[in-house]
Amino acid sequence: VRKAGITGVGYYVPKNILTNYDLEEMLETSDKWIKSRTGIEERRIADDNEATSDLAFKAAKKALSDAELDAEDLDLILVATMTPDMLFPATACLLQDRLNATEAAAFDLEAACSGFAYGLSVASQFIASRAYDNILVIGAETISKILDWNNRNTCILFGDGAGAAVVQPVESGGILGSILGADGSDSDLLKMPAGGSKRPVSQKTIENDLHYLEMDGNAVFKFAVRIVAKAALQVLKELGLTAEDIDFFIPHQANIRIIDAAAKRLNLNEQEVFINLDKYGNTSAASIPIALAEAVQADKIDKGDKILFVGFGAGLTWGANVIEW
Ligand code: ACO
Repeated sequence: VRKAGITGVGYYVPKNILTNYDLEEMLETSDKWIKSRTGIEERRIADDNEATSDLAFKAAKKALSDAELDAEDLDLILVATMTPDMLFPATACLLQDRLNATEAAAFDLEAACSGFAYGLSVASQFIASRAYDNILVIGAETISKILDWNNRNTCILFGDGAGAAVVQPVESGGILGSILGADGSDSDLLKMPAGGSKRPVSQKTIENDLHYLEMDGNAVFKFAVRIVAKAALQVLKELGLTAEDIDFFIPHQANIRIIDAAAKRLNLNEQEVFINLDKYGNTSAASIPIALAEAVQADKIDKGDKILFVGFGAGLTWGANVIEW
């Protein structure tokens, strides 16, 4: 089968920084609590007039330039997001227009924080089947727009941002393999209850605060600790690899305790694990592509390195990819 690889990366985060100290002014919380329980120190927050497609556009431009690819040559734009500009049309279509990618098909993929891992897997299938040559996979979120800023259980955790990757055929290496999973029986653990067809927008849904992200933090935490190592070991096993073969681990950036637990299970040392959640919080589908672009920019990745991505999130969903850079 034809191999697919990441040939360009880029990211964008909003300028506006919200620190834990800023949150102390807004809520009954403390920098100490947030830092010790999550590892997060600050996060970026989009402006009122900045939507997910705006962040995605800036990340996409950088990735295209990094890959030296013209937007007109794109065959497919895939936006992974749980905070689209609107329920429809797809944010990917808004982006297609902004980029003037007139030849590209475009759709959104909703797998919450696993969106980028899912997106890479989908893109690699289109390349393997020879349907498409030039694909843009983007994880982009403005979670700040669906947070209840009076709820300290959730609002301290998340941030806004976008990361993009160009996926094209490669001679060797590239995306070696992916595994995807879902468990809808726990869909209640993390959701935005209203605004869809089950509970359309009404005075009542607004009065009951149903347009905000809701989460059972403890249950999601337990799921995450279990699934990150499990997903990693599964994709490695399918490829005939072990954790020892991994040079660099880029996990979904949700909580330092979740990452540390997984790194320990996989026997990876500190230098092998990329962490930027201290600066950005949990940016959901954007977290892995932002981290990848930052790691590339910081020269932390060498040619031939094997990189492991693991995402997990609402759905529940999870996904893992192994890439040879
Ligand atoms: N500041 C101060 N105190 C707080 C805060 C806060 N921001 N939030 C909660 N507390 C209090 C609680 O009220 C509780 O007090 P109590 O013991 O008097 O009841 C105490 O701190 C401990 O709360 P816990 O919920 O037990 O704290 P825990 O150590 O489990 O950490 C956290 C909570 C950080 C939310 C953790 O459960 C977590 O990270 N869960 C996973 C969340 C996650 O990653 N979600 C995203 C998944 S990806 C996606 O798809 C979006």
